[in-house]
Amino acid sequence: MTEAKKLYVKTYGCQMNVYDSERMAETLGAQGYVQVDTPEAADMILLNTCHIREKAAEKLYSDLGRLKPLHEEKPDLKIGVAGCVAQAEGEEIMRRMPIVDLVVGPQTYHRLPRMMEAVDRGERALDTEFPEEDKFAHLPKDRRTRRGPTAFLTVQEGCDKFCSFCVVPYTRGAEVSRPAPRLLGEARELVERGVREITLLGQNVNAYHGAGADGSEWGLARLVRELARIEGLDRIRYTTSHPNDMEDDLIAAHGECDKLMPYLHLPVQSGSDRILKAMNRKHTAESYIRLIERIRAARPDLVLSGDFIVGFPGETEADFEATLDLVRQVGYGSAYTFKYSARPGTPAAERAPVDAAEADDRLQRLQALITEQQRATQNAMVGRRVQVLFEKPGRMEGQITGKSEYLHAVHVEGPESLLGQIAAVDILASGPNSLAGRLAG
Ligand code: 5AD
Ligand code: SF4
Repeated sequence: MTEAKKLYVKTYGCQMNVYDSERMAETLGAQGYVQVDTPEAADMILLNTCHIREKAAEKLYSDLGRLKPLHEEKPDLKIGVAGCVAQAEGEEIMRRMPIVDLVVGPQTYHRLPRMMEAVDRGERALDTEFPEEDKFAHLPKDRRTRRGPTAFLTVQEGCDKFCSFCVVPYTRGAEVSRPAPRLLGEARELVERGVREITLLGQNVNAYHGAGADGSEWGLARLVRELARIEGLDRIRYTTSHPNDMEDDLIAAHGECDKLMPYLHLPVQSGSDRILKAMNRKHTAESYIRLIERIRAARPDLVLSGDFIVGFPGETEADFEATLDLVRQVGYGSAYTFKYSARPGTPAAERAPVDAAEADDRLQRLQALITEQQRATQNAMVGRRVQVLFEKPGRMEGQITGKSEYLHAVHVEGPESLLGQIAAVDILASGPNSLAGRLAG
């Protein structure tokens, strides 16, 4: 038997990329590749890239630069670039980086086996089409390499919203939902492999409208309810959502479906209506706050998370203060804050930027407020009993760690036999990024 070829995958960016990386590794697995943990050990390196902000794309070029000495040492080393930078700048990557053998976009990675044949012949391969066929139908069905009790499942891809700052509609293409029976099948397969929690992924996941088993169109709520019937699947989450797609039945599901976890990532981006309009968000600060009230009425203990952009072109101090006000009104359990980054080809990139120092200052002020809220949410868990899905050994000897239903990291002293299981934990203390607890007796 010939020795297995070794694959190293590096993933940048969002959870969708984590899922795509897994599926690409499985596809290459069927070609005889096994995954390794370091680039030095690899025969093939695949960088699965992110284009959402400028820094993310720059990272790719600096990482490729750093691979040059390794490539010189091992001239047979194959290097591939996948993901959204590949989609947006495939030709340029090929031109600038002669060490790259392969460029594959997020919608064509099911074609990797064919592309690898070309690469093995010594050719360079590029495929960044938006093909007609459904890539998922062409990927290996077998999810054998999956390990651990949590998994991602992409249910929807792409976006038709065209927020004026965002590259996603260009790199990931138009919104497409996968048919529900396939998703139920993939979920069952994951559960058979020991998965207890599935996070449904989509750039606009709550806009999901896939074909159901009965031929009708299912929304996300219907999909969640059907997934909840799978025995052995205990937890369902979904991300990322747009406020305008939070329909009544999905809100109701948060109150009715025990397996749907009480944590929701619902980006608002800004608290200023003027800026929201310039961002083409099609909602107002007020409509967002009313929406949160309705979701909290359905599930009062829900922990909320969000995304914010500061320093969007035209943002004044008053606009920024409206964002701070919104954050104070909502009360977030966590949130991601970004400084606006002009993305070529998006409408906002044409507009005059906010002073960089001003934007930095706003970012810090917003981050300070969010951190305060995050701490308060975490501290409020002390004294409560939560359910923890244990995922891995902790940093200290004898410790295990996992996530509560509210997505807080929790560690306890406990046996490794609990890994992959859900157990009740009494929370004793709140640290900077995690909670400490004791297994409930
Ligand atoms: N600049 C800064 N942040 C951005 N995001 C998307 N595009 C940009 C950009 N051009 C943020 C948004 C989005 C998250 C995934 O990334 O907040 O919700
Ligand atoms: Fe980008 Fe999300 Fe807006 Fe779509 S809804 S354009 S993915 S920020």
